[in-house]
Amino acid sequence: MWFLNKEIEPKDFFPSEYVDIHSHLLPGIDDGAKDMEDSIVLIEKLASYGIKNIITTPHILGDIWQNTPDIILRKLKEVQQELENRNIDIQLRAAAEYMLDDKFLEFLKKKEILTLKDNYILVELSYMNPPINLMDIIFEIKMAGYIPVLAHPERYAYYHDNFGMYIKLKQLGCKFQLNLLSLTPQYGSNVTFTARKLLKQGMYNFAGTDTHHKGHLELLKKVASKKNMKQLIPLLKNNKFFTE
Ligand SMILES: [Fe+2]
Repeated sequence: MWFLNKEIEPKDFFPSEYVDIHSHLLPGIDDGAKDMEDSIVLIEKLASYGIKNIITTPHILGDIWQNTPDIILRKLKEVQQELENRNIDIQLRAAAEYMLDDKFLEFLKKKEILTLKDNYILVELSYMNPPINLMDIIFEIKMAGYIPVLAHPERYAYYHDNFGMYIKLKQLGCKFQLNLLSLTPQYGSNVTFTARKLLKQGMYNFAGTDTHHKGHLELLKKVASKKNMKQLIPLLKNNKFFTE
């Protein structure tokens, strides 16, 4: 029914409890915000959608994005200061989006990990293929006392025809984070199909915007529809867990 798919104002869509746990808003340290002005523009736009509690998650990814907790927390301070200077009322914290690779295992050994909250870590997999030792890595994460929150499981095409792997990952203790943009044409129809399927089966624990740039936030408006409201509001409210 067409009226169920009617778009509504994002600020009427996102519940006040929602904490965004996946984005790239710190300036110049990954493929997200380019500079301070860009950071502020993105944060203000999120705030205009009613998203005022954000844990931003710069990439820590092999030799490509060699961020450290120090670099991330320093950048966070700079942005927090700028927000204060401009009287923008936002709660901004930072963690990281960790690529599960050998470097990650080194950080894990040293317990040099930025968590979303308590022992929850946001992790991602390569889009090309999963690490051959994925099960061992997840085991190591659990042994070290952390809980992996797998970013956008719907985006890993190699699992699209292997739904059993999603079930296995959940059984191993992974939490799943839906990228809200997966419900738009952003990543292609197979990703949307898988996201809808995982949603329907109640496999997601949390949701995130994975905002990198303004285009993402324009597209995010499309998620704010009557139809999505029914299905997504309980999930968005789950993110309340990450309130400080
Ligand atoms: Fe991301």
